[in-house]
Amino acid sequence: MPADKSVTGSNFQRMRGLKAQLLKDLAPVPIAFSVDGKSFGFEAPLTSAIPPGSYVEITVNNDTTYFGQILERRITEREGPEYGIATEAKGNVFLLAVQQQSNLKDHLIMRKQEGGGLLLGSLSKGPDKKLTQPTVFDVFDEASMSPASNEVIDLYFQTVRPKTGLDIGTPILVPKSTARVFLNADGFDRHTLLTGQSRCGKSFALGVILEQLMLSKKPRLVVIDPNSDFVRLDEFRDQKSLNDVRSSTLGKQQYEALIERYREVQSGLRILRHNPDGKARAPLQISFSDLSPRQQPAVLKLDPLADRDEFHSFQTLLEYIKKRTYSLKDVVNEASRYFFQESRNVGLRIVNSKIADWGVWSKREGESLVDVLRTKIPSTVVDIGSLNSPAEKAMISMVVLEHFWENRRQHEEVLIIIDEAHNVCPLNPADEIQRICRDLAVLIAGEGLKYGIYLLLATQRPDKLDPNVMSQCENQIVMKMTSRADLARIADTFSQVSPGLLSECAKFDKGYALIAGKIVNTPTFVHFDGRLSFEGGGDLPKSPPRS
Ligand SMILES: Nc1ncnc2c1ncn2[C@@H]1O[C@H](COP(=O)(O)OP(=O)(O)OP(=O)(O)O)[C@@H](O)[C@H]1O
Ligand SMILES: [Mg+2]
Repeated sequence: MPADKSVTGSNFQRMRGLKAQLLKDLAPVPIAFSVDGKSFGFEAPLTSAIPPGSYVEITVNNDTTYFGQILERRITEREGPEYGIATEAKGNVFLLAVQQQSNLKDHLIMRKQEGGGLLLGSLSKGPDKKLTQPTVFDVFDEASMSPASNEVIDLYFQTVRPKTGLDIGTPILVPKSTARVFLNADGFDRHTLLTGQSRCGKSFALGVILEQLMLSKKPRLVVIDPNSDFVRLDEFRDQKSLNDVRSSTLGKQQYEALIERYREVQSGLRILRHNPDGKARAPLQISFSDLSPRQQPAVLKLDPLADRDEFHSFQTLLEYIKKRTYSLKDVVNEASRYFFQESRNVGLRIVNSKIADWGVWSKREGESLVDVLRTKIPSTVVDIGSLNSPAEKAMISMVVLEHFWENRRQHEEVLIIIDEAHNVCPLNPADEIQRICRDLAVLIAGEGLKYGIYLLLATQRPDKLDPNVMSQCENQIVMKMTSRADLARIADTFSQVSPGLLSECAKFDKGYALIAGKIVNTPTFVHFDGRLSFEGGGDLPKSPPRS
């Protein structure tokens, strides 16, 4: 029987109106409960804007207010009550007019948000607001919950600002807050992983952290820089260009005070670069004799078992060289003095492989990398990006790692920062040099803390990083990451970071990060900003040229 369209249309509209009204009336009010004064559970309507990582205020009996952070949330669904309207339809059947009455019915589907979070503070009463730590007696139920006000968010970030704080940017998910996020410099006495997909802003973030660590004057910093990203750390931005990369503007006096402090620490910064034309202020170079007994054969790809004779001959030749500092050319000269086939083979290996032609070998003038590392300069950038071949880059990384491991008993605190760390400590080393690097990184990751050797590793390929290294990173900085497999790997490795927070990383913009570990009070979402100096690397042409 064809239905009367106008009747049907208006009935559907009535049903829709009724459904909307019922959903509105029956929607849960946002409420929270806590049974331990540390964590809380909540339920809220879909319309509450409380993504994981955001901050809320929880008020109990209009009296006590808590400040908390959402860690997890899920959307739950259940069948609600039946609703409907009585309808009348007219129709014609065999020329007879028929009046039919019926009920139009449906079931409501009720959706809401449920989840949990951490109680970060209890707000004191009175005009002088303070946040204090809740205790196990702060238990409550049916407390009202709402997104936190800017005032309380700002208060929280002031409260948790560490004594030696690194000013790295602004909190996200707090649209109108003027707070800035400070990392705890003392927290870098742990290993740190900085990860995120390609072009998400890892090197920029690393630059911000580096500059701030330099300002904090501890610990000693050594950067292995594979893309020449940090070679302009000594070139400050002017006030305008600094404010262009900051979310909050610095006035003239603030700018000058900051840059003055930054200028002061420059005397302790050495940027070592490949020096083909002799123009680099600090050349990145090394003598063959600076390499350790296990590094030298690795560079020549000499295997002690597969190349037994040649390996042995090489060791003997080294004993005959009388100079303290010698080059590969000295080894070839020494080899050419003997008639034995094995010593000829050593010489031929060096000549044919062209390893003696590498640009990284020391010229007469300028210090060797090993000398620079020994002089304990506060901050050193080792620009392996300026070297020509991957083998030279790998060799220099190996020298840096081995230097600190071999001198570990001196207990000199050092933070070794490695960008593109999956090339230095790879899961599957491609050759002996990479294997040595990986093994050193595993040793430092496992035992470095007790000698004061800390790692800060940045990579876009956590799957290619040796898991024994990655799992030792107690601080995590996770930037935009859409790969489910990578997120799952991070979640598995760092089970202390809430999966709810990690899943938000897929939605990040450039420069956004989730930071967890000892360098923050609790997991914090941040936007990195305010690089004091210019970026190097591929971005070199974008910024003004060196004067
Ligand atoms: N927080 C930020 N504020 C402003 N610009 C940024 C920020 N983060 C990154 N950028 C810009 O985005 C570009 C990519 O950043 P960056 O080189 O740091 O990414 P990356 O993750 O290190 O990339 P890759 O995977 O290629 O090493 C650069 O041009 C940089 O200037
Ligand atoms: Mg990078």
